[in-house]
Amino acid sequence: MANQDDFFKKVVAHAKEYGFIFPSSEIYDGLAAVYDYGQLGVELKNNIKQYWWKAMVQMHENIVGLDSAIFMHPRIWKASGHVDAFNDPLIDNKDSKKRYRADVLIEDHIAKIEEKIEKECEKAHKRFGDAFDRQQFVTTNARVLEHQKKIDEIHERYADCMNRNDLDGLKQLILDLEIVCPISGTRNWTDVRQFNLMFAMRSGNVSDRTSQSDKMGSVIDDSDTLYLRPETAQGIFVNFLNVQKSGRMKIPFGIAQIGKAFRNEIVARQFIFRMREFEQMEMQFFVRPGTELEWFKHWKEERLQWHLALGIPADCYRYHDHEKLAHYANAATDIEFKFPFGFKELEGIHSRTDFDLSRHSEFSGKKLQYFDSELNESYTPYVIETSIGVDRTFLAIFSHSLKEETLEDGSTRVVLSLPAKLAPYKAAVLPLVKKDGLPEKAREIQHLLMPDMMVQYDEKDAIGRRYRRQDAIGTPFCITVDNDTLTDNAVTVRHRDTMQQERVSIDQLPAYLKAKL
Ligand code: GAP
Repeated sequence: MANQDDFFKKVVAHAKEYGFIFPSSEIYDGLAAVYDYGQLGVELKNNIKQYWWKAMVQMHENIVGLDSAIFMHPRIWKASGHVDAFNDPLIDNKDSKKRYRADVLIEDHIAKIEEKIEKECEKAHKRFGDAFDRQQFVTTNARVLEHQKKIDEIHERYADCMNRNDLDGLKQLILDLEIVCPISGTRNWTDVRQFNLMFAMRSGNVSDRTSQSDKMGSVIDDSDTLYLRPETAQGIFVNFLNVQKSGRMKIPFGIAQIGKAFRNEIVARQFIFRMREFEQMEMQFFVRPGTELEWFKHWKEERLQWHLALGIPADCYRYHDHEKLAHYANAATDIEFKFPFGFKELEGIHSRTDFDLSRHSEFSGKKLQYFDSELNESYTPYVIETSIGVDRTFLAIFSHSLKEETLEDGSTRVVLSLPAKLAPYKAAVLPLVKKDGLPEKAREIQHLLMPDMMVQYDEKDAIGRRYRRQDAIGTPFCITVDNDTLTDNAVTVRHRDTMQQERVSIDQLPAYLKAKL
């Protein structure tokens, strides 16, 4: 665990040192759980968004995009259930005065037992070598079975409390598991209380909150409380008919959206894993009632393939099927990623039935139905949702890519082996020396490549140090211009991961790089 913590600190430090992520408002001592993306971070983040958009919208003729407003009619959040039920169960430690999510305390406790199982597996793997059969081991080893039994018992009690909204039961579980506050080390807990996660705003301006004329437009009748949207999905639901009719969409079809969401995460921690302002990439897929479980299976598989296509090993991902289903869902799973602090949710895939469209029909008085000409009938479509956080994807890819390697000569290098298609800079052009016409030639090559990709020019310091700088920011190719370049019109291309070098003619260079990327 200490190693995991150390590694995670390195991830956070590296992100800051190289201009990927800064704490927000840092010169004012920061703002908890809010972060800014720096000059390299914004490139990586944009590339992640493009990669998702291309896979979901460009590559599916029956999925279209949307960019709905962050401000929405207040009744939307009543209809969606967020006003009444978008809560976290919170508990305070009376000694440290620190506040925690009760469910997270219990999940962390379960994660610790899971780690014990992992350790048993690692030990056995070492002992048995290639003959080690994990499946057989975890189903027969007495210690593992005991740990698993404990986990199952906790899960059962925990799911039962959450289902029944039994806050006293949650507190009792925390006491029975002897969970202590990580700061004070005591079990002096308050009762568990529900806390709504939406940021509510008064719609008047700051100087005159009482003035009617300051209210946003005329739509606000029964309440002047606006909320910052806690998910982008509702913007899709309320535009279902607009998109379906104007785009003449036939079911099954999807609407995809990338945008900011806001949640008042009380227990904000783990860097950009849990933020108050974050970005989501969501897609709602509208299907015929009765076909939703087939489509759920389809999207569960397709979304995992999207992750695997990045080249990150499959054992970094796992499904976590929900035992406790929201009242409107008839199937739900998470794709979890092995973050530096353990397996945690990266993406959610939910079969949301016709809940959202029906509720918006009820609350708005507008019929949100589809006429299916093949069946000759109208119905409220069912919905499969895929919902992934941009920032969590960033953290998954970034933390997995950061490595410290020991080289053959005993020296070390820090390398960020980002998937090439996501790297902020695809290439760096480096004149070997700062004279003899090499910088001019290098600038020419930079301008040759710039229309096709992000390219950096660097002439400062010895070439070895410049390579290290590019390794640390994840640039897949370094292009070195040397004296021979002036006569053979070729450059040396160095590959980030293997550090191998090859000579490539400048005429071929754009095509060569594009093929590799
Ligand atoms: N519309 C469904 C929905 O919003 P969710 O599981 O609450 O479902 C979906 O959120 C995804 O959004 C999560 O899997 C996660 O990647 C991301 N996410 C949620 N809360 C977040 C937060 N506070 N900070 C960063 N990402 C978050």
